[in-house]
Amino acid sequence: MKVVLAYSGGLDTSIILKWLQDTYNAEVVTFTADIGQGEEVEEAREKAIKLGVKPENIFIEDLREDFVRDYVFPMFRANAIYEGEYLLGTSIARPLIAKRQIEIAKQVGAEAVAHGATGKGNDQVRFELGYYALKPDIKVIAPWREWDLNSREKLLAYAEKHGIPINRHGKKSPYSMDANLLHISYEGGILEDPWAEPEEDMWRWTVSPEKAPDKPEYIEIDFEKGDAVAINGARMTPAQILETLNEYGKKHGIGRLDIVENRFVGMKSRGCYETPGGTILLKAHRAIESITLDKGEAHLKDEIMPKYAELIYNGFWFSPEREALQKLIDQTQENCEGTVRLKLYKGNVTVVGRKSPKSLFSPEFATFEEDSVYNQKDAEGFIKLNALRFIIEGYVRGKK
Ligand code: ARG
Ligand code: SIN
Repeated sequence: MKVVLAYSGGLDTSIILKWLQDTYNAEVVTFTADIGQGEEVEEAREKAIKLGVKPENIFIEDLREDFVRDYVFPMFRANAIYEGEYLLGTSIARPLIAKRQIEIAKQVGAEAVAHGATGKGNDQVRFELGYYALKPDIKVIAPWREWDLNSREKLLAYAEKHGIPINRHGKKSPYSMDANLLHISYEGGILEDPWAEPEEDMWRWTVSPEKAPDKPEYIEIDFEKGDAVAINGARMTPAQILETLNEYGKKHGIGRLDIVENRFVGMKSRGCYETPGGTILLKAHRAIESITLDKGEAHLKDEIMPKYAELIYNGFWFSPEREALQKLIDQTQENCEGTVRLKLYKGNVTVVGRKSPKSLFSPEFATFEEDSVYNQKDAEGFIKLNALRFIIEGYVRGKK
């Protein structure tokens, strides 16, 4: 049997690789993607070779542009936030991994795919919904739900027994982490006590707001059809935009988050996140929408946003309802272009200016001076008709 494994090159997925060979007598094909997690993906090649993977069965790909262009940016057009806080950094990366795994499975003629997500989390759902949506007859292997290596000691013993290198010098982080160009996440360890504040040194991507520069910095972001296309006038690719915004966010301590969230599978989970560039981008996007979107259009987007965010959190990226919502969202972005000016200062992003050739903001109509389209006398009937049910109720119930 051929299996395409989502392989990070780390200890856990190396153990999975070996376990698939042993348990299923599988010919393992490894797939490792650079989605901006900040680790050298080429190291996975050497490790896979050591574990007996044939060179032609090793796939290592730089997917940073695909990730931002086809997943992160479409999601930001919706201003998606889960449970009022979470910018969905991990959730949005899973469909891309699932999609490439299935494409590789088709290419090499593999009948199965495998991943390293545990049986308690959201990630297993996101991977597997993606697999089935893209290849209905795929066989899915989720080792964490099958094997009995359910403690750190058992895992390490298994690694030792099979000669899988354990990096004993590099001290293992006490947190379960996941990173890509959009965010880094921390779960587990002391975070399992929702009252316990994380140590300052947990945070890897941003300086603390206290240590951020005492001087604010101003930046400008240009948008076209709802996507950021330039920073301070310099045009960039989607991944470069996010990388650059991450640098600004890091420097100014922007985008830290500490929450308890509801997982799709049911339990509550405490997570800490750093989404520096994404936090800036969301603010900027809402600001450009504020002058370029019609009121009804903007309010409709805000109504469907929680649904859209939940679909992404729960792993339904490839569902017909997510795709239908995306069409609606994308249509609202047709005229969403212009420039936003932001002030970055000690953990804060403040919008200080916005302008657009397509702006609907019109000083002539908002002014308190006399104007031609708005007749103040019209407001009287507008208010009276809106008040009609109060007035009737008042008479009927005798409130007058
Ligand atoms: N709780 C977040 C989510 O569900 C982050 C998950 C992080 N995943 C991980 N394998 N460490 O999106
Ligand atoms: C995991 O269990 O693999 C990580 C947590 C999650 O997916 O929610």
